[in-house]
Amino acid sequence: MPFIYIKTFGCQMNIYDSARMLGAFEKLGYQATNKKEEADVLLLNTCHIREKASEKLFSEIGRLNEVKKQRKQEGKDTLLIVAGCVVQAEGSEILERAHAVDIAVGPQNYHQLPELVTRYNRRKGRILEAHFPAASKFDFLPPIKANSASVFLAVQEGCDKFCSYCVVPYTRGCEYSRSATEILEEAKGLVETGAQEIMLLGQNVNCWRGEKNGQKMDLGDLIVSLSEIDGLERIRYTTSYPSEMTQNLIDAHRDVPKLMPYIHLPIQSGSNTVLKAMNRHYTTDTYEEIIARFRKARPDIAVSSDFIVGFPGETEEDFEQTLSLVKRVRYASSFSFKYSPRPGTPASFMKNQIPEPVKTERLIRLQQVLLEQQKEFNQNTVGKILPVLLVEKGKEKGQLTGYTPYLQPTHVKMNSRFLNTIQSLKITGASATSLTSE
Ligand code: 5AD
Ligand code: SF4
Repeated sequence: MPFIYIKTFGCQMNIYDSARMLGAFEKLGYQATNKKEEADVLLLNTCHIREKASEKLFSEIGRLNEVKKQRKQEGKDTLLIVAGCVVQAEGSEILERAHAVDIAVGPQNYHQLPELVTRYNRRKGRILEAHFPAASKFDFLPPIKANSASVFLAVQEGCDKFCSYCVVPYTRGCEYSRSATEILEEAKGLVETGAQEIMLLGQNVNCWRGEKNGQKMDLGDLIVSLSEIDGLERIRYTTSYPSEMTQNLIDAHRDVPKLMPYIHLPIQSGSNTVLKAMNRHYTTDTYEEIIARFRKARPDIAVSSDFIVGFPGETEEDFEQTLSLVKRVRYASSFSFKYSPRPGTPASFMKNQIPEPVKTERLIRLQQVLLEQQKEFNQNTVGKILPVLLVEKGKEKGQLTGYTPYLQPTHVKMNSRFLNTIQSLKITGASATSLTSE
């Protein structure tokens, strides 16, 4: 049986895509391995969102080429495939620079992989496939099976927002919603194969729109439909765009017990001047008003966000406005980054770029506040009894790791027969990054 080794960089969508690509290879008779040396296919799923992504990729290709050469000496052929967003942005450069790469495939083309492999084997010519086909890749892929009690399900892809710093609209294409029928079918299949929690994915997941029996649906309606699946215990979604938020989705947090009390709503900056330069279509007031509505619907909801510091033109004053916004909103968790100029994006041409040391200093200050808030949120759950979905074995022997409704990881000493179950645990301790419970 041939083996495939997959290494994934970047976001949850990429992890989901890797699972779908694996599915396509499994249909061809391949089996997943985490040993590069035994792999007949080496696949890198790449990310282009920030920082020297392509440099990292080329050194990774170099490492895999060593494996490829070693196998060649043993008389074995190895196919090296590069997939994902770097291919969409710089596919021909990859083939030019890295001769070890046999196939480069963009994020909208990976359903063609079986055909591309056949084509490669027949003609022995290197292949680049990175375009936006008219038909959806999901129509061609085999059904996905759950590989854990907690799984991803892509419901929406692409982005029409064109934030001035972001590559996603160029690498993932325009906004596309999968049909409700297709999503419900995939969800049922995932639950039948062991999923208890589904994380709905989309670059702008709350822009998802669909219909059922001629009735228009938004993400809130989709969540209601999904909650009717027996055996599905928890529903989550990420990432949302602030000004696309509907009251119906907010209300779902009040009305649907299976919808977890967690909202990831990136604001990026607390300065309206910066938000405008970023081409984000909301103000801090609108954002805070949306958060207030979430808290009204679900008072205990955990709020999370992404932040970018050092966007071109960001003054010390702008940055301080981000700090005070954070203090007003109070976040349970967050992701924060230094602005990284992406080739071809409008912000990369802006004249007033911020020096690297200033970005670093601001990031440290912001993360200090955010981490403090995260710690406080975690500490507030100490003493509570919370349902925890135990998804994996912990680092220590006899330990399991799971997630609370607020997406806090928690470790517990527990027999492994409780793996993949939801247990009521008493939270006994908290740090900024995790909980302990019994
Ligand atoms: N520089 C820094 N951070 C970025 N992000 C997206 N593009 C950039 C960039 N050019 C961050 C945003 C987004 C998250 C997924 O990545 O905060 O929400
Ligand atoms: Fe990028 Fe903005 Fe679209 Fe998010 S909304 S994917 S940051 S362009």
